[in-house]
Order: sequence, then structure tokens, then C-alpha cells
Amino acid sequence: MRKIIIAGNWKMYKTSVEAVELVTELKRTLGDMNDVDVVVCPPATALAEVKDVLNECSIGLGAQNMYWDDFGAFTGEVSAPMIKAIGVEYIIIGHSERRQFFGETDATVNKKIKAALKHQLIPIVCIGEVLAERESGKTFDVIKTQLEGSLVNLTAAETENLILAYEPVWAIGTGKTATPDQAQEVHKFIREWLTKKFDAAVANKVRIQYGGSVKPENTAELMGQPDIDGALVGGASLKSDSFAAIVKNCLALK
Ligand code: 13P
Repeated sequence: MRKIIIAGNWKMYKTSVEAVELVTELKRTLGDMNDVDVVVCPPATALAEVKDVLNECSIGLGAQNMYWDDFGAFTGEVSAPMIKAIGVEYIIIGHSERRQFFGETDATVNKKIKAALKHQLIPIVCIGEVLAERESGKTFDVIKTQLEGSLVNLTAAETENLILAYEPVWAIGTGKTATPDQAQEVHKFIREWLTKKFDAAVANKVRIQYGGSVKPENTAELMGQPDIDGALVGGASLKSDSFAAIVKNCLALK
């Protein structure tokens, strides 16, 4: 049985003061939640202060990006050991906004996954098609290419430690959610790909989140699908009441 994991991707929102306010509220409402894994991913500038608030509660901490080398002359970047030293446990890798605006590719995603695993960070690896790809019937081809490129040369044991996030780009920040059937069909495809590449044991272990306009009202229906194991939430994770409602709407499931 895969445990549901709900992660809030705060993107480039919240100063550290605002981040502490939000996470303090979340700790009050979700801090002893054990039936669902809950993770917050604030901007890098707020990680340390958010971690101080999260001490001794069940909410996990994730970062939104990192570079693959441990250190070096890479102005503006942060590394896995640096975020690990703050107490970060999860790392979002290859979000579509990073692919779209910062030139990330499946090859760089693969390097980052390997760096994260080397430092015992849990990668949340994002994949998903853009609208034109969906409309021209290329969704599965795109997903397959992203999986092959992002997970190249990973062993079964390494892959078991990943979380995958299917985020159709046309559903991100648009209010246009994939229907439960549309999402389930891609999640099932991803799990079948994992079975073919590794085996059923690996495929059954990997948690696959859905992301794209997840809100309290659509959570139960999406999370009720057999291959959807959680959500990566953008906009609705920026307010404690909507994020807490999303988590609580998962409680009756699975
Ligand atoms: P929204 O929930 O705002 O659509 O964002 C989804 C997302 O990109 C999470 O990583």
C-alpha cells in the first residue's frame, strides 16, 4: 500500500517572514498528521527558518531546485550538501517551469537525481506534456521520452526511492485540472513503464503524484484513482486553510 504524499510547491512566493507565518499555521493544523505524508517546499531563502518551525512535527521539508555538483564556481546555485545541512529531505527536480524558463532538460534532471540520491535526498521528479503535445496525441510519447531520459542509468534500488510527479503543463496555474480519468490514464502508463523497465515490485513501490490546479474540491476524486498517490500543489498550498483541506480530503482514501 503506497502512502499518499501531499507536497506544497510554494514556487517564488513568500519572504521568510511570510513563510514562517504560513508554516506555523500548517504545523498547528497538520503537525501531527501521520496518515498522509505532508511536505512543504518553500523558496531557498526560507528553508532554514521554516525548518526551525517544523522541528518535532511530522511535516517534511523540500527544496525546489539544486545543482548537481557538491560545490564549485557556480554563481547563484545551491548544492545537495548545502540544503541537506539545513535539514531538507525532499527535492523537486525538473519542474516544468525550470524546463521552460531555465533550460533544464532530461539530461540535467538525470544528473540532479543522481546527486540527490547520493546525499539521501528524496527526489520529486516532474514530468508532463504541454497542451500542443496533448492535442496532437503525443502525450504518451512525451512522457516516455521524459522517463527514459530522466531515469537513465538508475538502478531498481535507486528508482524505488524516487517520487514521480505527473504535471500536465496545461493544467498548471490555469485552473484547468486534468480529469481523474485523464490523470489516471497517464499515471497507469508511467507505472507500466516502470514495470517494463524494472519489475512489478519497483512499479508498485514508486509513488506518483499528480500536479496541476489541485484544490480541496477536486482532491478526493483525483486521489481516489488507483495509480495516483498524492499531489504536488502550487497555488492552493500558499494558504493554510486550502492546503490543510487538501490533506484532510485524502484521509478517507486508500
Ligand atoms: P498549481 O497547483 O498552481 O496549478 O501548480 C501546480 C504545480 O506546478 C506544482 O508544482
